[in-house]
Amino acid sequence: MRQTLIAGNWKMNMTTAEAENFADELLKLNPKKNGEVLICPPFTDLYALGKKLAGSGIKLGAQNVFAEDSGAYTGEISPAMLLDLGVEYVIIGHSERRQIFNESNELINKKLLKLQEKNLKPILCIGETLEEREAGREYDLVKSQLSACLKDVNANKLKDLVIAYEPIWAIGTGRSASANDAEAICKFIRQELEKNFGDLAKEIRILYGGSVKPATINDIIAKENIDGALVGGASLKAADFAKLVAYEV
Ligand code: PGA
Repeated sequence: MRQTLIAGNWKMNMTTAEAENFADELLKLNPKKNGEVLICPPFTDLYALGKKLAGSGIKLGAQNVFAEDSGAYTGEISPAMLLDLGVEYVIIGHSERRQIFNESNELINKKLLKLQEKNLKPILCIGETLEEREAGREYDLVKSQLSACLKDVNANKLKDLVIAYEPIWAIGTGRSASANDAEAICKFIRQELEKNFGDLAKEIRILYGGSVKPATINDIIAKENIDGALVGGASLKAADFAKLVAYEV
């Protein structure tokens, strides 16, 4: 049985003071947690948020990482720096990084292999644009993203891999994929993983992301091949995030 994961992706939001207030509010609400709960704040909040959340069972993730150990990479953050701050998961390949910062599947693959080497858990984002969906190319697209980003992956560490299926047209638009549509692609992703990794694929968690809200989480998470959600906008308010992590099935 795969444990569910509800992950908040704060993107470029929340000063340290705001992050601390969020943590105070969330801890006061003390929501029932059905599975694993994760917050991925900006790098600048990790230290303060880690202190606030210590002992709460709520885990820390990062939104990005660089694929080298150290060196002349101005502006970048290494896996060791994240481990030092208590980070357990790292989002890689988010569509905003692919589109705005031109990150390629090759670079994302390098990051994934580096995370595996350092025992950090990758949350690999994949998903199609609206044009690709309208052209009926969403299955081909996620298949090629998967195979390029998972090249040379360490099969022994697959249980720590999380895939987040995030159709780009659903991110931050309020236009979520229906639970059935999301399940159809997540099932396809699982089948692709099974083709490549056999039974090990059963342990890989697949999340849906794209305008997930407290009102939609229950239907999404009830689906057989969806093991949780990667949530942007609705993870920024403690009251909403509390409702998301206390989803009911
Ligand atoms: P959203 O973002 O929930 O605001 O659509 C999801 C994401 O980009 O991870």
